[in-house]
Amino acid sequence: MKIYLAPMEGLADFYLRKLIAKTGGYDLVITEFIRVVDQLLPAHVFYRNAPELRNKGRTADDTPVRLQLLGSQPDALALNAKRAIELGSQGVDLNFGCPSKTVNKSKGGAVLLNEPETLYRVVKAVKDAVPAGHITSAKMRLGFNDSNLMHECADAIVQAGADELTIHARTKAQGYVPPAYWHLVGELRDRIPIPVIINGEIWNNQDARRALTEGGCDHLMLGRGAIRQPWLARHIKANSDQIESWSMMLDLVREFWAMVQAEMGEKYCSGRLKQWLHYLKEIYPEALVLFMDIRRLTDITQITARIEQELCK
Ligand SMILES: Cc1cc2nc3c(=O)[nH]c(=O)nc-3n(C[C@H](O)[C@H](O)[C@H](O)COP(=O)(O)O)c2cc1C
Repeated sequence: MKIYLAPMEGLADFYLRKLIAKTGGYDLVITEFIRVVDQLLPAHVFYRNAPELRNKGRTADDTPVRLQLLGSQPDALALNAKRAIELGSQGVDLNFGCPSKTVNKSKGGAVLLNEPETLYRVVKAVKDAVPAGHITSAKMRLGFNDSNLMHECADAIVQAGADELTIHARTKAQGYVPPAYWHLVGELRDRIPIPVIINGEIWNNQDARRALTEGGCDHLMLGRGAIRQPWLARHIKANSDQIESWSMMLDLVREFWAMVQAEMGEKYCSGRLKQWLHYLKEIYPEALVLFMDIRRLTDITQITARIEQELCK
């Protein structure tokens, strides 16, 4: 079984990717998307989105990192896909699932699920541009407003030569609201001859087992579940329901805080910490208390003092 860490724009940035990957169990990490319009982007855009490219497309603990591209113009996507590989990305992933209105308006993300022929042209152009031996993967939802075209979309992606397909088991219209329709991935799975990675609403080991069974898949992708519980991939592989202690979690939180403080500047770093605690509080009551205590703080010294106080408990 392979487990991928999901691309999550504005959430799974370089710092969280680094920490989550080092907990073990992840076979691949996908970056936040880079939006491609009609031209080849400069190298600094790739490095900003994926600093791991400077480490041969690997996280600090050596987990492979794949860059994700979003757009609808085949030629421009092909140029950027080739560049991503040259810069060190471990394959290229194409985003056909983003629900953002702005992105969809400019013909990017999930809106392309209304146009299987565009999916085909995009995947084909990228596959042809990516040097042999490197993976072209795609990530789709079940559809835009409904799942009527899901078979056509998956077929288009496969026939265009994609090597792997991740399916977020919901339509764009279903957003992020539970449930995820894993059984529909199962309906698709039978006619897809490439590895299918199932995604959506996998929060614990039990969910993972059900998703794999209902979806008929061997592989899965974790998104918000990995943010809440970074060790989840390792536990799913061991078929375990274990949850790490708050003290272990706190070590990661401290490391995260040290990194974002050093790299992001005072204005943004406290927001990033609060955002992560917001997810962690679903598992750890201590995270809720910490979150409430620092909620209104922006001063770095005060936040650090509160975290240090937590360590002494
Ligand atoms: C904050 C956030 C940002 C996301 N950004 C991306 C993205 O850049 N590219 C993408 O393909 N999916 C993106 N997604 C979707 C996730 O990759 C994933 O498909 C979705 O969260 C469902 O999985 P989960 O239930 O395990 O979280 C994002 C999701 C969230 C919550």
